[in-house]
Amino acid sequence: QTEISRVRNFEKIHMGRDEIEPWYFSPYPEELTETGVIYLCETCLSYFGSEFQLRRHRKKCQLLHPPGNEIYRDQDVSFFEIDGKRQRTYCRNLCLLSKVFLDHKTVYYDVDPFLFYCMTTTDQHGHHIVGYFSKEKESADGFNVACILTLPQYQRKGYGKLLIQFSYELSKREGRLGHPEKPLSDLGLLGYRGYWEEAIVDLLVDGDLKVSSVDEIASTLAMTVNDVLHTLSYLNMLKISKNNHVIVLTNAILERHSARKAKEQLKGKRQIDPARLQWKPPV
Ligand code: COA
Ligand code: NA
Repeated sequence: QTEISRVRNFEKIHMGRDEIEPWYFSPYPEELTETGVIYLCETCLSYFGSEFQLRRHRKKCQLLHPPGNEIYRDQDVSFFEIDGKRQRTYCRNLCLLSKVFLDHKTVYYDVDPFLFYCMTTTDQHGHHIVGYFSKEKESADGFNVACILTLPQYQRKGYGKLLIQFSYELSKREGRLGHPEKPLSDLGLLGYRGYWEEAIVDLLVDGDLKVSSVDEIASTLAMTVNDVLHTLSYLNMLKISKNNHVIVLTNAILERHSARKAKEQLKGKRQIDPARLQWKPPV
């Protein structure tokens, strides 16, 4: 962990078909940031100072997708589980890249204690990394996500919620309640609030379970009781009556829900299908 400044230190990242503008500082080597442009290998995330160097590397690069096991595939979406200890270089490259879009001051060079869950989409050219989240192998605090990122060229398309949903599916398999490491960034909070609202309201309105208490919601969704309570009160769905919490589905919530469902029917919504998750908690 190193304290670093927040000032953006280069102009552009070339990555596959995309040119990305950095948001924050990231400690790429100075000889690369000096020139303003960093050339990234789309598959192994190695970084270079010129297009020439990148091309030379691409001829040799053996990776076709993120290293590690493909634990999920549904149509064009895949997830790979990567052990930070076994794939140090890849995971450090991923942390360097994600720091470009994260405003906190520390970069984790010690990737060994983490697992990384990388999401890709495939097309005729192969796998393209869309985003990822990291997760401590052992979290005393019950965190199921350390860092989470959708690359900017893929943001606002529902991939963030897909990553979040995936993290909770892992917690369900573990039989644990999970929650993301705090504090969340502004965008992180927006993403989580969106996910929490949708998951809870969908469960209450469409769920075939007769879920009625905060504890039941928490255990069904693998969310912490705290996050359920905060979401319900943020949505004005919590009334206190005789020292008990009563959950109310207000008209405003029901209208928002049916408007969202109508939109999802029209546009389609990406969802994680738990049946496609080939994964057991590591022992
Ligand atoms: N402005 C306003 N609301 C936004 C927003 C923005 N720029 N970006 C996301 N949201 C909100 C919206 O409510 C959105 O739902 P909607 O599009 O249905 O309205 C919801 O968040 C989730 O959007 P989604 O498309 O599923 O998320 P995403 O793929 O854009 O990814 C993050 C969300 C947080 C992963 C992404 O913004 C990111 O990587 N940010 C930088 C890294 C970071 O801050 N990570 C979290 C801290 S570790
Ligand atoms: Na939670």
